[in-house]
Parts: sequence; C-alpha cells; structure tokens
Amino acid sequence: MASKPPGIGAGTWSWGNRFLWDYRPERHDSAINAAFAAAVAAGVRLFDSADSYGTGALEGRSERLLGQAVGALPAAQQRDLVIATKLAPFPWRVGRRGFDRAFAASRARLGGRLDRVQLHWSTARYAPWQEGPLLQGLSDLLEAEVVPQLGISNMGPRRLRRWHGELQRRGVAITSLQVQLSLLAREALAPGGVRDVCAELGIELIAYSPLALGLLSGRWQTGGALPSGARGSLFRRLLPGISPLLEEMAAVAAEHWVETTSVALNWCRAHGATPIPGLRRPDQVEAVRQSFRWMMDSEERQRLDHAAAMLQNGMPANPFSSS
Ligand SMILES: NC(=O)c1ccc[n+]([C@@H]2O[C@H](COP(=O)([O-])OP(=O)(O)OC[C@H]3O[C@@H](n4cnc5c(N)ncnc54)[C@H](OP(=O)(O)O)[C@@H]3O)[C@@H](O)[C@H]2O)c1
Repeated sequence: MASKPPGIGAGTWSWGNRFLWDYRPERHDSAINAAFAAAVAAGVRLFDSADSYGTGALEGRSERLLGQAVGALPAAQQRDLVIATKLAPFPWRVGRRGFDRAFAASRARLGGRLDRVQLHWSTARYAPWQEGPLLQGLSDLLEAEVVPQLGISNMGPRRLRRWHGELQRRGVAITSLQVQLSLLAREALAPGGVRDVCAELGIELIAYSPLALGLLSGRWQTGGALPSGARGSLFRRLLPGISPLLEEMAAVAAEHWVETTSVALNWCRAHGATPIPGLRRPDQVEAVRQSFRWMMDSEERQRLDHAAAMLQNGMPANPFSSS
C-alpha cells in the first residue's frame, strides 16, 4: 500500500521582512491574519517562523503575529498545531547557553507557545566550532522539557548525520530538517543527499521556498509586471529559461483542475517532503486546499523531474548550507 504523503505547512518570512517581501504592518497585517485562519481551516498544522523575520523596529514581528493569531484560536484548535521557530546562530550567540536569551524572547513573542526550536543555519562554512555547543544547549532545553522538539535548517547530509549521532547518544532526536527544495532547487534529492539521510534516520524533511519565492506559481511572465526589488531581479533573470517547466506544470495543473502552485507543492510531497509555502493572503490558501485533495502519480512526477533537469538555471543555493 502506498504511504500517506507528507502534510503541508506554512511559512511566515513575509510577515515581517522588508527587504525581500516589503512588509508593512498597515498594508499586510489584516490579510496575514485572514491567511492564517484560512490555512488552519484548510488543514495546515505546521507554522514556521524565525527570530530574524523582522529586524530593527520590526524585531520578531513574524513571531509576534503568529503568537497572536494562535492565541486567538479556540483551545482545541491550538492544541492541533505545531508552532516552530528558528534561532539564528549570530556570531555573538556562542557556547552551550548561547541561545538561552534568544529562545526565551522567541517564546515570549509567540505567546508562550513553541513546539519546535530549530537551528536556522549551519555555521560549518565559517565557524564550524559554533553550532555543536548551540545544538547541545537546545538539547538541554528538550531534556528539561522546556520545548518538545528540535529541528535543524540549512545543513547538508554529512553534518546532519554527525549531529544526529551525537545527539542520539544523549537520547535527543532531531525531528526535522528544513532545506530549500523546489522544482528549481533540487540538491536535497541528489543520491546520498539530505532526502536520503532523512529517510534513513527518520527525520521529517521540510521544503522551504517550495514556490521559488512565488516564481513557480505561474503568476509571473517574462515581459509582464514583476515584484519590486531583489525578487523582481531574480524573476527577470530566471523567467525566460524556465518556461518549458512552467508549461509542463500548467499541463499537470489543467489535468487536475488546480492552480500551478498546487503542482509545485505536491511535487515536494511526491518526493517525501513537507512544503511550507509562504502565505500572506487568504486567496493564496486555495492552492493548499486543492493540494490536500489530489496527489500526482509517479509518471507526472517524473515528467516534472525531467522538465526541471533540462533547465540551465535554478534558485541560488543558500550560502550557509553545509555539506
Ligand atoms: N530555513 C531557511 O533558511 C528559510 C529560507 C527561506 C524560507 N524559509 C521558510 O519557508 C517559507 C516559505 O518560503 P518563502 O516564503 O521563501 O517562499 P515560497 O513559499 O517559495 O513563496 C512564497 C510566496 O509565493 C507567493 N504565493 C504563495 N501562494 C501563492 C499562490 N497560491 N499563488 C500565487 N503566488 C503565491 C506569495 O508571494 P506574493 O504574496 O508576493 O504574491 C508568497 O509570499 C518562509 O516563509 C519561511 O518560513 C526558511
């Protein structure tokens, strides 16, 4: 019997970030709240934030909005959710107690509700000595039952295997690994890559930026209006080369009467990963709702794999991700 596909979560980077997402409280907050409610109603259970989603005057904005939205739900609905955040291993956060203050601040912004704490990125490329004590410190919090689950983000297969072994020796499990994964970022799926290691070690694989920042929604076209700033520049560069993939996605979408976005999400699930699309408007949740109602077969997945493999360009890799 085929195993059940992974669920779908939601990301909240755009709930506080100005640089890429041009977040403005007065312009976005009411739609964000409506998107949260629609996502919960659609069956989304995992919500992902970070202590760096909102800096300066907006420090921790995404966590704060998420905490308020969760707190407004009836208690029975709150219980079903998994609220996750990521702590940034900034250079001044060192040692086994290096995350203590950041953890307490995130949990307070989330209204006391924090189910999974995640290391935001690996420091292996520039300060390899830093991440071990930080992970041990987070494991101390799990052991003290301050937080139930531990996750890691932006880590490669070699390093993941190492920390899995070290933490397992003290009885601490890594619940999830979160990496960039979409039809335009498929490194995780390489043989021996993190998808294989997660499957072997029983770690949930979470796909971030599953829509390639919105590029895989099919909404944007070469020559048409594009988002402002860095996202627009990236789209302008990538769009001309990816039209064969977008056409293949649109064909699969038409066969199932769903949006192209839903194809992007279910391709991640077909590869065993939980996508966490960024959602900031209630209408964007419709694609999530659709995705729960169908699943692509292996022939459709292979058609998309093939179309993606033919492309010359893809999303830039996260520079912090380790081997
Ligand atoms: N661990 C990490 O280092 C890391 C890095 C990046 C992201 N993440 C996490 O992953 C989450 C998702 O990734 P992401 O936000 O970077 O990008 P994404 O999910 O690939 O794209 C999100 C954007 O796509 C557009 N979109 C969403 N639904 C749509 C729909 N139905 N139709 C058309 N457009 C739609 C929206 O843009 P518009 O609103 O502008 O239309 C939305 O903000 C983040 O929020 C964050 O939680 C983690």
